[in-house]
Amino acid sequence: MSQFWKPGTERPRLVDDEEGGVLLYPTSSSSSSGFGYGSLEKQRQRLPVYKYRTDILYLVETHATTIIVGETGSGKTTQIPQYLKEAGWAEGGRMIACTQPRRLAVQAVASRVAEEMDVKLGEEVGYTIRFEDITNEELTRVKFLTDGVLLREMMDDPLLSKYSVIMVDEAHERSLSTDILLGLLKKIQRRRPELHIIISSATIEAKSMAAFFNTSKRRRDQEQGPIREPAILSVEGRGFNVEIFYVDDPVSDYVRAVVSTVLSIHDQERTGDILVFLTGQDDIDAAIQLLTEEAQSSGKQGLVAVPLYSGLPRADQDLVFSPTPRGKRKVIFSTNIAETSLTLEGIVYVVDSGFSKQRFYNPISDIENLVVAPISKASARQRAGRAGRVRPGKCFRLYTEDYFASEMPVVGIPEIQRSNLVSCVIQLKALGIDNILGFDWPASPSPEAMIRALEILYSLGVLDDDAKLTSPTGFQVAEFPLDPLISKMILASCELGCTEEIITIAATLSIQSIWIPVRGVQKELDEAKLRFAAAEGDHVTFLNVYKGFIQSNKSSKWCHKNFVNYHAMRKVIEVREQLKRITQRLGIGLKSCEGDMQAVRKAITAGFFANASRLEPFSHNGMYKTVRTSQEVYIHPSSVLFRVNPKWIVYYSLVSTDRQYMRNVITVDPSWLTEAAPHFYQKQMHSSIPQ
Ligand code: CDP
Ligand code: MG
Repeated sequence: MSQFWKPGTERPRLVDDEEGGVLLYPTSSSSSSGFGYGSLEKQRQRLPVYKYRTDILYLVETHATTIIVGETGSGKTTQIPQYLKEAGWAEGGRMIACTQPRRLAVQAVASRVAEEMDVKLGEEVGYTIRFEDITNEELTRVKFLTDGVLLREMMDDPLLSKYSVIMVDEAHERSLSTDILLGLLKKIQRRRPELHIIISSATIEAKSMAAFFNTSKRRRDQEQGPIREPAILSVEGRGFNVEIFYVDDPVSDYVRAVVSTVLSIHDQERTGDILVFLTGQDDIDAAIQLLTEEAQSSGKQGLVAVPLYSGLPRADQDLVFSPTPRGKRKVIFSTNIAETSLTLEGIVYVVDSGFSKQRFYNPISDIENLVVAPISKASARQRAGRAGRVRPGKCFRLYTEDYFASEMPVVGIPEIQRSNLVSCVIQLKALGIDNILGFDWPASPSPEAMIRALEILYSLGVLDDDAKLTSPTGFQVAEFPLDPLISKMILASCELGCTEEIITIAATLSIQSIWIPVRGVQKELDEAKLRFAAAEGDHVTFLNVYKGFIQSNKSSKWCHKNFVNYHAMRKVIEVREQLKRITQRLGIGLKSCEGDMQAVRKAITAGFFANASRLEPFSHNGMYKTVRTSQEVYIHPSSVLFRVNPKWIVYYSLVSTDRQYMRNVITVDPSWLTEAAPHFYQKQMHSSIPQ
């Protein structure tokens, strides 16, 4: 009776994405499941890249740039840095870097490599992600880091001189930082011909990447040093078939559809774990809750549901990677992090919702949103491939075959073409790259987005009339590993005497949420929030929670009682300490405003004036309009100001579901907006902002 297609109720179809036939996914030739299968060394030798070890080392040595393409799980990320180390690339005080777009992947692969090398994580093998540096200056030789962190390292060491080889991994993801990094590495190579670059990915148009890196106008025999023309190596592996199934009719609620598909697989298919692709923590939590309820009510046993998304606490991450207990079936509900960044063992079934959360920026409205959007064919193919590593698998796509064939985009749009560029521009400026429009990008950003970014940075006082970083503000803002709007808020707090409070707020904003995720206890959570709720808004509420946590002596019991996430609070304290160190380095005094919340709100306005909204007069449903572009927006239900609807607010970010919601809002006085950014609000001054 369900409107969804159920596995087993329809003749299986073997469909190749293009040619018609069978989908083949290369995998480890031994088809071992990894764990419990001989020593780690033996496992290493069974990986597809192992056969190419000599070729890889030869190409890296003889070429300035080597592009390596190989299926997820073939061993690129965990093995190549080790091969380089074994071949001596980390001798003489040099280091090997391997970048990843995702923080969680950095942690996971670094742990795995440390284990394989039998060393303590943080010594010979280490990792660095924002606000977490698990390396040792003297000992670390192989370092995993996010591409964003490597960009930051360039601010102190523009030629990245301590690295002999830099492997830019997951290049097909085309994250914003990856693209900036690729552009900069190309520049660095001109100054440092001895720097070797590896670009690796699961799928990439290797040719266009090679063309981008082909700086050679001369032949090798005319020149000393490595060949400038990039080498391309494709790692092959034996494949297992993946049968693809589609729904007959479009699905209206993909969370429900996912759950009913998982239950049908559990009913009708033989053993093997299930990997479900959803979009984010919210729909993952919802799906797990629904699955638990449905399994309970129908008396189904043996399912172990595990979430996987970035920001997941360490203990939960371990669950994802640990072997499935005998007689059980693990169901991993993941964001697209499991698409290519992480290898999960034992997956035989994939359920693909067809969506992922993607950043979209509209330079006209100047609004950046994280929206649930359809994935590309390239992604769909990757997702399906996750089912075919251990043995032949099945992939259940919750969209129609027609949709896949005729509507789904072939590849995704690089993030740089759908992002707000404020952080990108300031980073390039801080690295002394002034002609940003003329910068050699792997994919050009839109001029409109660039102009918007320059405009905001100018109003923040970060850039001067010649679009150069101002001194000291511009350089100081660039010094923080934060969104420039937050950095500016911190700088403003110095003059307003509330830096103690503002760095707490900045630390909290950098954490996804400080509340325990709700699963059926919305009412209790709302009541707990009320205990801390401040009339001024969410930022001041954060200060109350922080104060309570400190007064409780950082007690986990206190957190539990108040629906506050203990791990998130520990992280807030850690991040806050780091921000404190940066402010001290910049000579900013750590003053407290002793409860003067006006100072705090003014400091927030100094950073976030561009995100001001005004309640529509006579609005009965809490509709606001953004001051700059008159977009319709609403206060997010998670905010303490939800339904309070004060007249003027500034928000931290927008999320878009059925409407545009403002997350983390604070009341402001409109006159502060013009005070904070006279140029920015010049046009609006006469119309909407009272003097
Ligand atoms: O980077 P790529 O997708 O090519 O593969 P990888 O991440 O280097 O993974 C190679 C193999 O290491 C996988 O097939 C897994 O068997 C194993 N691995 C693991 O067991 N646990 C991890 N955290 C990472 C990798
Ligand atoms: Mg990898």
